[in-house]
Order: sequence, then C-alpha cells, then structure tokens
Amino acid sequence: MSVIIPVAGGKGGVGKSVLSLNLSVAIASQCKQVVLCDLDFGGANLHTMLGLKNNQNGLGHYINKLVDNIPSLIQATGIPNLHFIAGDCLFPGVANMDFFTKQKIIRELQKIECDYLILDLGAGSTHNVVDFFLVVDNGIIVVTPEITSILNAYSFLKSVVYRFCYRQFPPKSAGRQILQNSILQRLEGKDFSFQQIMQVIETTLPGEGYDCLHKMQQLKPRIIMNMGRNMQNSEMGRRLQQLAQNKLSIDLDFTGYLPYDECIQYSIAQRQPAAVLYPQSLFVQTLLSTAQRIISAHTTSSVLHNAPEDFDDIVREFYSQQSNN
Ligand SMILES: Nc1ncnc2c1ncn2[C@@H]1O[C@H](COP(=O)(O)OP(=O)(O)OP(=O)(O)O)[C@@H](O)[C@H]1O
Ligand SMILES: [Mg+2]
Repeated sequence: MSVIIPVAGGKGGVGKSVLSLNLSVAIASQCKQVVLCDLDFGGANLHTMLGLKNNQNGLGHYINKLVDNIPSLIQATGIPNLHFIAGDCLFPGVANMDFFTKQKIIRELQKIECDYLILDLGAGSTHNVVDFFLVVDNGIIVVTPEITSILNAYSFLKSVVYRFCYRQFPPKSAGRQILQNSILQRLEGKDFSFQQIMQVIETTLPGEGYDCLHKMQQLKPRIIMNMGRNMQNSEMGRRLQQLAQNKLSIDLDFTGYLPYDECIQYSIAQRQPAAVLYPQSLFVQTLLSTAQRIISAHTTSSVLHNAPEDFDDIVREFYSQQSNN
C-alpha cells in the first residue's frame, strides 16, 4: 500500500502547491514511485507548475462521470519516477461535490499503486479539504511565520479534530449532538477545550468520551514552516504547538523549516519545479533533508527515527548550518 501524504494549510498562498510539487520531486529522486494529485478543486495549478498542458483527463472528468476510474488519469511528467493526476480541468462546480463522490474519490485514490501518493489540497477548512486530510492521521500542514497563517492553521486543526470526533459517533447519536451543541456555545463566546467537551460526553455516555479522546491522540499532524526568514520564526511554531496542546489536546510533529528563496518564483515562471531547475538552492537542499526525514519516518521504526525534538531544534539546526557554510 502506498504512503499517502495530504498537504493542507488552512490559509491560501502559504506554499502548499510549491511544497507538494517539490517534495514529490525530492522523494521521486530517492528511487520511489510518486504520484502527485491535484485536489485543489477550483484552484488547480500544479499542471502549470509542471509545464504540462491542461488538456488531459483529470479529476473533473471522473467527477462528471466521463471516466470510471482514477488510476486511468495518471499521466507522465517527464521527471523520473514522478506521475501526475490533474485536477478539476476547468469543469465548473466540481468543488461542491457531494459526500458520496468524495468517498468514491478516496477509495479510488487508495487503489493507486505507487510508493508515495501526495495530495495537494485547497485553502480553507471546508469538509471537503478536511476529509481528504483525514485519509491519514499525519497529514502535512504548511504554515508561514505570520500570525495570520498560524491562526488559520489552528482553525484548520480545530476543524480536523471536530470532524475526526464527529465521525467517531454514529449519525443522530447523542455524542454528535453534544459536539454540535458545544460548537454553538463556542459561538456564544464560551471557549471549551476538546478535553472539556469529551468530559461532557463521558458524563452522558460513560466510556465514549474518553474512548474518543484516546482515538484523537492518534492524530499527529505534521507541520512544515515555509518562507522562513530568521531565528525568531520558531516563536510562531511554539504558539501553534501550545494552542494545539491546550485547546485541542493534540501533539504536532514539526517536520521541517524551509527558507524563503527567490528560486521559487523563478522556477514557477519557468514552469518547472525548483527541485529540478535549482538543485543547489537553499530551499531545495533543505527540502531534501525534510524529504529524507519523511521517508525514514515511514521506513524505520518510530523509536529509531531521528526527527529533532521540537521546532526550536529544527530552526536552530537550520541557522547553525547556515553560519557554518
Ligand atoms: N519558500 C518560498 N520562497 C519564496 N517564495 C515562495 C516560497 N514558497 C512559496 N512561495 C511563493 O508563494 C506563492 C504561493 O505558493 P503556492 O501556490 O504554493 O501556495 P498555495 O498555498 O498552494 O496557494 P493556494 O491556496 O492558492 O493553492 C508562490 O507562487 C511563490 O511565489
Ligand atoms: Mg495551491
């Protein structure tokens, strides 16, 4: 079975597509078969970044029932080991797909035979984005060192946790009702933590609240900070980590810190990934070690994997390497 890596961010323009694309190239360069899939319905642009014409069948054809399976949509990219599934292909209204269509897409994606399947998701926290993100427990959230990005990432995480818990309870159950009520009360200004909400469920439905809380702890979203500029950026990562722990009772796995680098703009203008055009750039060199960390997390036991302890370590490591060069 392939390793699925959804890439989300909550906020637009933080670099979800740049990361999905270049991470795909970086993993493909390690002799892994990679399929990159454009799931940004209404905003698909990976084909442009790959220099491919938008005249091949894509997910828009599947959603409009013009093709009956998703593996047949896989196209070559010209980059060794990297394959591509195009997005909505300019069909209007595709972003508003119903629940069953989404479930069918998820089942079809899980059938794809490759080593890594990377999903570039759209901005925002709609159910469509969150459900594709929740295909696995450890999707990637891209943030930038700006307060707006951190708050949008937190908002996205809140939707992820809420949706995850909601789906633990059957339709029309008391558990779902309590969750919904807590969200309405939140709108009235009472900000409960998820732990408190689960305690309320536990009081009404003994066993179920703590069971859900326990399952929630399986969630381990991975955070990659993009467009990093200086050491102080680690403060933003810490804020996100505290919010996630205090309000949502989940731990985040800080997986990478990528610098702001003009090679990204040049590569987009040339319609080729930076990882192909500028392999010696700071962005690509740093991304290669992030890709290596991701690959080893999937291939070695978690006891052995050598991820830094926390986000401060990652940022400090990055700047100490810079001063050594
Ligand atoms: N590390 C970087 N260094 C410099 N510029 C970057 C970097 N990452 C992204 N950018 C710039 O940010 C722009 C937005 O990136 P990208 O399209 O990947 O964002 P996105 O999160 O996918 O946006 P959307 O929500 O619209 O899909 C790029 O066009 C590029 O100019
Ligand atoms: Mg994008």
